[in-house]
Amino acid sequence: MYFKIDCKVALISGGASGIGLRYAKELLRNGIRGVTLADINDYFGEKALEEIRKEFGPNKAIYVKTDVTNRESYEGAFKKTVEVFKNLDILINNAGILNDGIWEKEIAINVNGVIHGTLLGLETYIPKYKSGDEGVIVNISSIAGVKESNHVPIYCATKFAVIGLSKSFGHIFHYNRTKVKILVLCPGVTETPLISDIHGKSLGPPYEEAMNSHLGDLPIQKPENVAVAMVNIIKNAQTGTVWIAEGEEEPYEFILPPRQNFAPK
Ligand SMILES: NC(=O)c1ccc[n+]([C@@H]2O[C@H](COP(=O)([O-])OP(=O)(O)OC[C@H]3O[C@@H](n4cnc5c(N)ncnc54)[C@H](O)[C@@H]3O)[C@@H](O)[C@H]2O)c1
Repeated sequence: MYFKIDCKVALISGGASGIGLRYAKELLRNGIRGVTLADINDYFGEKALEEIRKEFGPNKAIYVKTDVTNRESYEGAFKKTVEVFKNLDILINNAGILNDGIWEKEIAINVNGVIHGTLLGLETYIPKYKSGDEGVIVNISSIAGVKESNHVPIYCATKFAVIGLSKSFGHIFHYNRTKVKILVLCPGVTETPLISDIHGKSLGPPYEEAMNSHLGDLPIQKPENVAVAMVNIIKNAQTGTVWIAEGEEEPYEFILPPRQNFAPK
């Protein structure tokens, strides 16, 4: 089913900078009525609101200070969204860090944060406050969620986790009872501080060495490309599907083959 973005309301975690802010702007370009930037960084939040005000006019966006690792804090962003915009149709669980040096925090943000958001969106806020027939949750994984990463094994594990949980919550069984489709977007290497500040964020020297040889091989894209891919999949993709957006290309679906394909005949 085609999802109409026009006049909808979105909530984006980690939406105050990086790729998250580009998702907000691209959705606004496609006619959404309002967007909540749920982020932990007040400076980015205020700056992002100013940019959105200049480009799209007043009353299109709010910033809510949010720590996605804390359920009550994340729920505060949902509550504020429905208080201000009356609806919630689109949720993007985008907040994430890459830092295996502080891996408990990395897991808390990249996995627990996505679980908090998915449960709040799927079980309560989107079914109750969606303005049309259907709502959408997009969880952000990575190309590190579909292939091993010898330089950041724990980041890689968090992004594999996002795919397992999103395909499970995105099963047609849950869609039929909630009318919320759940998608996964896996960006390739994208120009943001997450990549430019990557050094020193591994488990130590051998991992730094692996990092140097790994990143040089991959195409780098602008965050705007990922945002265009996001709008494309929100409109067209079916629940439980996983999409790769890499190297400025159109997004393509990543399909896990059934394990039985590999069983001896
Ligand atoms: N940049 C890349 O190459 C790339 C590639 C694949 C996947 N990703 C994923 O895309 C997402 C966005 O990455 P990015 O490159 O824009 O990163 P970024 O560092 O530029 O932005 C991340 C945003 O998340 C916010 N944030 C951090 N911790 C938070 C918390 N606890 N609660 C709420 N907000 C928090 C930050 O303040 C920031 O605004 C992440 O999930 C990342 O893993 C990025």
